[in-house]
Amino acid sequence: MKFDFSFSHLPDLHFGAGKLNHLPEIISHWGNNILLVTGENSFSHSVYYEHLTSRLKTQCILWRELMIGHEPSPSDIDQGVQLYRDSLPDVVVAIGGGSVIDAGKALSAMLVSELPIVHYLEQVGDTQPTGKKVPFIAVPTTAGTGSEATKNAVISVVGNGGFKSSLRHDNYIPNVAIIDPELQLTCPASLTACSGMDAFSQLVESYLSTNANPMTDTLALDGIMHIVQSLEELVLCQPTNLLLRSKMAYAAWLSGITLANAGLGTVHGFASSVGATTEIPHGAVCGSLMAETNKITLQELKKSNEQGISLQKYATLGRITGKYEGKPNDFLAEYFIDYLEQLTEKLKLPKLGQFGVKGNDIESIASKTSNKNNPVKLSHEQLVKILVNRL
Ligand SMILES: [Fe+2]
Repeated sequence: MKFDFSFSHLPDLHFGAGKLNHLPEIISHWGNNILLVTGENSFSHSVYYEHLTSRLKTQCILWRELMIGHEPSPSDIDQGVQLYRDSLPDVVVAIGGGSVIDAGKALSAMLVSELPIVHYLEQVGDTQPTGKKVPFIAVPTTAGTGSEATKNAVISVVGNGGFKSSLRHDNYIPNVAIIDPELQLTCPASLTACSGMDAFSQLVESYLSTNANPMTDTLALDGIMHIVQSLEELVLCQPTNLLLRSKMAYAAWLSGITLANAGLGTVHGFASSVGATTEIPHGAVCGSLMAETNKITLQELKKSNEQGISLQKYATLGRITGKYEGKPNDFLAEYFIDYLEQLTEKLKLPKLGQFGVKGNDIESIASKTSNKNNPVKLSHEQLVKILVNRL
């Protein structure tokens, strides 16, 4: 445990059912001309879209719209910049899933940057981002990435020579996050499951991270408890239960805070390497590999004598998920893995092969997979084993 840490600032947060109604008033603090970034499906076809545009008209707020239907690529962002740079909006508002929030975040920065976005991407580019941006408001319609709380936008190129890389700067943390769980009520079960597993894994990875600190641990455990209380019930039984949606939205928000301040582990290492190889939703990779990766990580920790804190943390996770008070730590840690394996079955989380990952991709994917801040470094062979078991 590190009692030596920094903690990033957060967006102004408006959380609760109906909070989207506050958006026009919040926009008016900066001006009356916005760029509205949405996904191709859910929000722009919903009754909430009609309500919002009606309110924007009433408040004399002009809007232009850009749809991003997939995880944003460099050319998506550069094309958006070409369209809107000459008449800058006062505010960029992104309403959608994690990809849409990332696209809006990147556009808000690139609209006032000189070079194409690829120059500013981590491990890919050659130039530090300036931190300049158009004010940015994030409104998530899924409970998953927590991008509404973070300072990075993930930009993807899929296929040969593909990559997933972040545009990152402290100033890119959204100015405002509006988390309105009503917007998530119609999220389909499979998307709710995969997004929820992304948030779950982010919380667990940051809790177990070698860079965790007392604040991230507290927030991560609270987020995990909310997911345990809500995800399974929401996906399998009560998709329109607003309280359950609120709990998941809250957990996803916390997961963004903890990942930004403690880092992530091997599951998200896979998310980058698998996601750069084939078109696969980020949450599907995380959900598919979470149980298997934690199983091998725990096995490796047990072989090491120096990882007592991490083993205790696995036991705490077992205690939260199983309510087995008084059981020994070994039992509790193993129980957590059982819980994840059962959840994988119950939520019918997809296997990688369903998205076109093939046996002969595995060596290459494993060689590009980072362990990030996992509590123990998994070997190439162990990474291969995880992928094979979820092919
Ligand atoms: Fe994630």
